[in-house]
Amino acid sequence: MEISHSFIVIFLFAQKIPALEAQSVCTYDPSVRHCSCLPLNFNNILSIISCISASSFEFIGGNYVNAEYFNTFNVELLQAQNEVQSQLTKISFVNLVLSEDFLFDFIKWLQKIPVTLLSFENTTFVGQYNRTPEKQQPHISSLQFINVSSHPLIQTDTVFYGLGNWMSTLGKLTVSKSNLKAFPCNISLNFEFMSDLDLSENLIQEEGLSSSFCSGAFPILKILKLQHNNLANFGSVCQTLRKYNLLAHLDLSQNNFSSMSNFICDWQPSLIRLNLSYTGLKHVDIGLPKNCEVLDLSHNKIEMLNISLTRLRELYLSYNAFTTISPMGNLPFLQVLAVDGNLIETINRGQLQHFEHLRSFKGDNNPYTCSCSFVTEMREIAETDWIVQKWPEGYICNSPSSIKDMLVDDVNRSFFECHTHLLIVLICIIVLLLSIAIIICFVKIHRSNKTRSSRTDSRISNSVQF
Ligand SMILES: *[C@@H]1O[C@H](CO)[C@@H](O)[C@H](O)[C@H]1NC(C)=O
Ligand SMILES: *[C@@H]1O[C@H](CO)[C@@H](O)[C@H](O)[C@H]1NC(C)=O
Ligand SMILES: *[C@@H]1O[C@H](CO)[C@@H](O)[C@H](O)[C@H]1NC(C)=O
Ligand SMILES: *[C@@H]1O[C@H](CO)[C@@H](O)[C@H](O)[C@H]1NC(C)=O
Ligand SMILES: *[C@@H]1O[C@H](CO)[C@@H](O)[C@H](O)[C@H]1NC(C)=O
Ligand SMILES: *[C@@H]1O[C@H](CO)[C@@H](O)[C@H](O)[C@H]1NC(C)=O
Repeated sequence: MEISHSFIVIFLFAQKIPALEAQSVCTYDPSVRHCSCLPLNFNNILSIISCISASSFEFIGGNYVNAEYFNTFNVELLQAQNEVQSQLTKISFVNLVLSEDFLFDFIKWLQKIPVTLLSFENTTFVGQYNRTPEKQQPHISSLQFINVSSHPLIQTDTVFYGLGNWMSTLGKLTVSKSNLKAFPCNISLNFEFMSDLDLSENLIQEEGLSSSFCSGAFPILKILKLQHNNLANFGSVCQTLRKYNLLAHLDLSQNNFSSMSNFICDWQPSLIRLNLSYTGLKHVDIGLPKNCEVLDLSHNKIEMLNISLTRLRELYLSYNAFTTISPMGNLPFLQVLAVDGNLIETINRGQLQHFEHLRSFKGDNNPYTCSCSFVTEMREIAETDWIVQKWPEGYICNSPSSIKDMLVDDVNRSFFECHTHLLIVLICIIVLLLSIAIIICFVKIHRSNKTRSSRTDSRISNSVQF
């Protein structure tokens, strides 16, 4: 088997890793060509040989701080670099302590090995990097920092300077769970080819947002995730982000827009996917992107909706305070509707047929009133071409009390239960008819009594005459 050149580099690199624990091994999973290594040292370094065909490497644990390890194998590394052609899909470091020197040396070693994703998770960076800028650039398409103590590559201008303008080639960056408040503007300006940016679970507020997304920064941004930050003003978020005229997907979920009053801000026409779930929204009299195709408003406190989004295909309203599914406004192309976890007591086919293109409906976890007509309608709805999600197990009667907690689909109400009105009317008619009959009888009897008595009278008078 031909030894992968990138493997040589990884192999040489691994030799530099000082181990804290004596026991450590690399395990190789051939089905996904993945190699996972606990801290390596000179005694167990040969275990990495098992990873000879790996395309992804994971280094778990360890302490990569000591600078003297960096210079030991430089000659071999440089030789290996010249021969490397193959691509690695991922290199990740998990649960470890890294010096910034180590990080930058490592990135330098990667200059000739294209790596799709370089990732640091639960990592503490120590020290401070300050060397002269590199001319050559590593070929890394995507970079990830998850739960790191600092983010040396983007944190300060000087550190970034040390890497040359490598950042300009990066297409995707994730910095999450890392207490990030903002990017310095002149760092943002360097991300010329960044199209996908994930800043979830940080501490970004409106001011940090507007300085990070300063004029000219991230010029081709298409996907932006700001989930779970400290944003509170939807209007100002819109003002900051509306200039991104390629932005298609924006995730603002898990921020707090509960104190938001109505505001007018025109979102860019490119925005087609907006996530506002878990944001404390009570009303939706806010500016929504007019070309929106997927809108998530779930887990809020919304009671009603009257929106006009003529391209909307998917609408998620789960876990709000809706009591009915109509009217919703003008949504002519809606295909997917989720209203589970609301306060809806009844649904009928007409309400769903109102959405001509509907193909998927989710309405479980509502307090349904299982009237005979609702049960019948619901069964009919389930039998149509629509995909009714969570049917039948998620649709449960809340009332009447006799069938509380029963599945809607299991309810078999008797003919008499279902037709009480009809029965009452029938009984009334019968009673009425009987009454009329009795009255007629009574009148007839009365009359015949009268004629009989008048005949007797006349007979008496006749007998008197004779
Ligand atoms: C984040 O990383 C630190 C070490 O840097 C670790 O102690 C902590 O458990 C991690 N947190 C999570 C949520 O993984
Ligand atoms: C970035 O901007 C700051 C001021 O905001 C300035 O001091 C610094 O020199 C700039 N850095 C670069 C690399 O342009
Ligand atoms: C919106 O964000 C929430 C989490 O914040 C996630 O669970 C949900 O799947 C997202 N919605 C869409 C449509 O991607
Ligand atoms: C959201 O903000 C409002 C005030 O603006 C506050 O009362 C509320 O507790 C916040 N909600 C959360 C979940 O932090
Ligand atoms: C919904 O909004 C439109 C225009 O904004 C308005 O004409 C219509 O009366 C509203 N419908 C309801 C039920 O409030
Ligand atoms: C209700 O009736 C259907 C057939 O009409 C039957 O399959 C089902 O078992 C019945 N359910 C109950 C709870 O009696």
